[in-house]
Amino acid sequence: MRITKSAGLVGALRVPGDKSLTHRALMLAAMAKGPSVILDPLLGEDCLCTMRCLAWLGVGFEQSEAKILVSPSGDWKQPAAVLDCGNSGTTMRLLAGCLAGRPLDVTLDGDASLRKRPMGRVALPLRQMGAQLEGDTAPLRIKGAELTAIDYNSPVASAQVKSAILLAGLCAAGETSVTEPSLSRDHTERMLTALGVPLRSDGLRVTISRTDAWDGFQFSVPGDISSAAFFAVAAAMVPGSRIELQHVGLNPTRTGLLDVLQQAGADFSVAENESELNEPLGSITCAFRSALKPFLIEGNLVPRLIDEIPVLAVLATQCHGTTIIRDARELRVKESDRIALVTSGLRAMGASVEATEDGLIIEGPTTLTGAAIDAQLDHRIAMAFAVAGLIGVGTTVLSGTEAVQTSFPGFFQELDRLQRV
Ligand code: S3P
Repeated sequence: MRITKSAGLVGALRVPGDKSLTHRALMLAAMAKGPSVILDPLLGEDCLCTMRCLAWLGVGFEQSEAKILVSPSGDWKQPAAVLDCGNSGTTMRLLAGCLAGRPLDVTLDGDASLRKRPMGRVALPLRQMGAQLEGDTAPLRIKGAELTAIDYNSPVASAQVKSAILLAGLCAAGETSVTEPSLSRDHTERMLTALGVPLRSDGLRVTISRTDAWDGFQFSVPGDISSAAFFAVAAAMVPGSRIELQHVGLNPTRTGLLDVLQQAGADFSVAENESELNEPLGSITCAFRSALKPFLIEGNLVPRLIDEIPVLAVLATQCHGTTIIRDARELRVKESDRIALVTSGLRAMGASVEATEDGLIIEGPTTLTGAAIDAQLDHRIAMAFAVAGLIGVGTTVLSGTEAVQTSFPGFFQELDRLQRV
């Protein structure tokens, strides 16, 4: 894929459905008492993996362009094969929680990247609840058992860990609680509450009790703010740009991007209009402005924008001063070591970037120059460097870009469509 300097991006765009919400909608629909309809789901590879795994467990799916009909058929069945979670950490960790209390013997596996990622963070609490779980990295073998509630203090602010425990807590005797060091995305809590599951959130502590299945539901999935971020940042940096991102999820645990645009003094506005299953949504309009300011990402802000950091690092190269990103050690265990890949890629393009153990220090502004970048099959690295290529002098040649299918099918087509000529 070749990207050249852009003369501006103009127009309106509806990004694909939210990845976190699509995974959860599929799993919660698969556990419901009756059929559900999911509208505008993300049909990216990660969510398709969740759907295929659930299909092996006996759940029926009918999929059309913008709709999935989910038909559970009672209890989940013993699958005839190893469940392939592909590249998807959310599939593996949340399914581990769903399976922990079911009388099945299931092995979850994934691709080379997923096999390297830490699974002990879910295996440990699920074992404490009574599940028999082999492996701290994939493949994970889960022999479901009678579960007992735990009161777990998670060492990481991870929605995947929190959700795995809450989903297991749905079939555990007693009250299961999880406390995290700072608030991670709360989609599982919001959706379960909307479905009538009694759940209490008290600051950083969430408590759930054993619950019978809920009725089938209809859910229209908002656009993914993590996908919108690539276009918001592109609009903020590329002279002549103005983009309206429509129908984007605006859950406050996901809107750290907006805090950073504010810090940078970017030209943007937000109009919140509706909500779906307790999930707020609206539109974000972002336009180019010169002399952007550097920003600081640390502490509680980190989980609110963890997936947006690669593209925000690109933004930082155009800000006047020193941007500091810290407390983001988690980036090292995502689909790739994102601190390492952002640093080497931006340096190859001429930026002034220093990697720290838990973040990045970026000095700006610098003129970027097109370079050869290997995204190493990490979707967010591929899209972040496509955005960097829009301001690079010359041509940026990206490899490993097929990974964008993970979360944003059609990304390059949309980038093309919005180019001002
Ligand atoms: C996700 C949570 C985050 C995020 C991932 C999706 C989720 O991961 O990076 O893309 O859907 O719960 P962690 O829970 O590991 O922080």
